[in-house]
Amino acid sequence: MNGRYFELQGLSHLALNSSDMTRTVDFYEGLLGIPLVKTLEVPGSEGGQHFFFDVGRDETLAFFYFPTMPRREVPVDKAIGGPTPPGLMNHVAFKVSGEEFDGYRRKLDELGVKYVYVRHDLDGGYSMNPADPSNDKTFALSVYFHDPDDNVMEFCAWLPAYDQIGRDHEPEGRSKAVGIQGSEEVTPVSARQQ
Ligand SMILES: [Fe+2]
Repeated sequence: MNGRYFELQGLSHLALNSSDMTRTVDFYEGLLGIPLVKTLEVPGSEGGQHFFFDVGRDETLAFFYFPTMPRREVPVDKAIGGPTPPGLMNHVAFKVSGEEFDGYRRKLDELGVKYVYVRHDLDGGYSMNPADPSNDKTFALSVYFHDPDDNVMEFCAWLPAYDQIGRDHEPEGRSKAVGIQGSEEVTPVSARQQ
């Protein structure tokens, strides 16, 4: 399949889970100043809520809250960009401008939000020290931080070297060896055959 069948218009919303909507609103709107713009009740849920925060360009970050929610069955992995159980989110990155990036990082300092800074270079180089300068191989600057439910958020600025990244890597995984049809453990693929 190479055709572009669907003209996607960006993200409508990305829905995460909140264990305490009051705390979530306090963090995103109260602390970070990301406006809460839509609130819904979840019909028939007796207290369920679905809230939307405006993250720019008519795109929203949404949260579901229910008075009773399943407990987290996997430990929170504080490692960023590392393995996360399939079906669970790794992190959400918001695009910010390269010009504003350092000011935003300092603003997080001012707000008391703990973060990890990473400068990403095309040759695999990186730095976690914001005082180190970027170079002509630097394709992204990132700060990663946690929300109150340990969802990992990122502010990401693409730099010009980002344009040099192509799609040069073959996808790995069990299906590479046995083929899609033989990869029965990859159950979501079976949905295609229904
Ligand atoms: Fe990222």
